[in-house]
Amino acid sequence: MKIIRHSQHMQSAISALKFKGKSIGFVPTMGCLHAGHASLLKKCRKENDVSVLSIFVNPRQFSPQEDFKRYPRTFKKDENFAKKEKVDIIFHPSVDDMYPLGFLTSVEIRNLSEQLCGRFRPGHFQGVTTVVAKLLNIVSPHVLYLGQKDAQQAMVIQTMVKDLNFPTHVKVLPTIREHDGLALSSRNIYLSPEERVAARVLYQALLAAKNQIRNGEYKPHRIIQKMRSMILAKTSGPVDYIELVDASTLKKLKTLQGNVLIALAVWFGRARLIDNITIRI
Ligand code: PAJ
Repeated sequence: MKIIRHSQHMQSAISALKFKGKSIGFVPTMGCLHAGHASLLKKCRKENDVSVLSIFVNPRQFSPQEDFKRYPRTFKKDENFAKKEKVDIIFHPSVDDMYPLGFLTSVEIRNLSEQLCGRFRPGHFQGVTTVVAKLLNIVSPHVLYLGQKDAQQAMVIQTMVKDLNFPTHVKVLPTIREHDGLALSSRNIYLSPEERVAARVLYQALLAAKNQIRNGEYKPHRIIQKMRSMILAKTSGPVDYIELVDASTLKKLKTLQGNVLIALAVWFGRARLIDNITIRI
């Protein structure tokens, strides 16, 4: 397994591999790897000749009061983790390599970026799309692997890839969960033991919503009301949002129809957790 720290070196390595006719699969991450990342890496390993993992805590997707400084950086552990997943190349650039003095560009996907998390994290998706556009130009993969756990991020990136003609195929893989349903996330390490137990209510609330719908409830506000009361019984942190939206536009639904994304963002202590499920009506 190679570790490459400079974007130019990465580009030359990829050119050489492509010259040899190798297919390239790519999993971008911010590190602190867990089983959710592993599922993407496994698929990437299986479907491509070369599997590339990037580890870069991207300052541009955090706003000033967010957790950029304390975001877990566990490179040595991640390196061993990547070895076990048979990653061929880890791309681990510095902030200066990615954003050198004089960097002025940003990539913005309108509308989709303004919904859900976009309302609470202004600039976040612009930071994500800017870094992913750069990473796609550096790694130039045939296939890009993303997680459904970050449903809005996956949609924003898919739209960018289509709109800007990146010659990459995007695959979105299912959310990996703990035994009690909590979606795996690098941010789960911020949870105290009590908060960790309480946080399982998020998936329970999503499943309760699904049940309500299966039993004929089509009024989003009633479903949201029940989810909110379940969640507020377990956390004193704010609920950023609980929404039922159209799964392709992310616009709020007044009555449920088609593919519905049920998405939420809730604080447990210092951790802002997101989760979602989709259901077809
Ligand atoms: P990060 O949070 O490290 O996630 C990297 C990838 O792993 C994303 O595609 C995310 O959706 C996926 N992932 C995270 N938890 C998952 C889970 N429980 N099950 C399945 N997949 C999961 O998302 C980012 O990093 C960054 O925003 C990035 C795209 C790298 C841009 O900086």
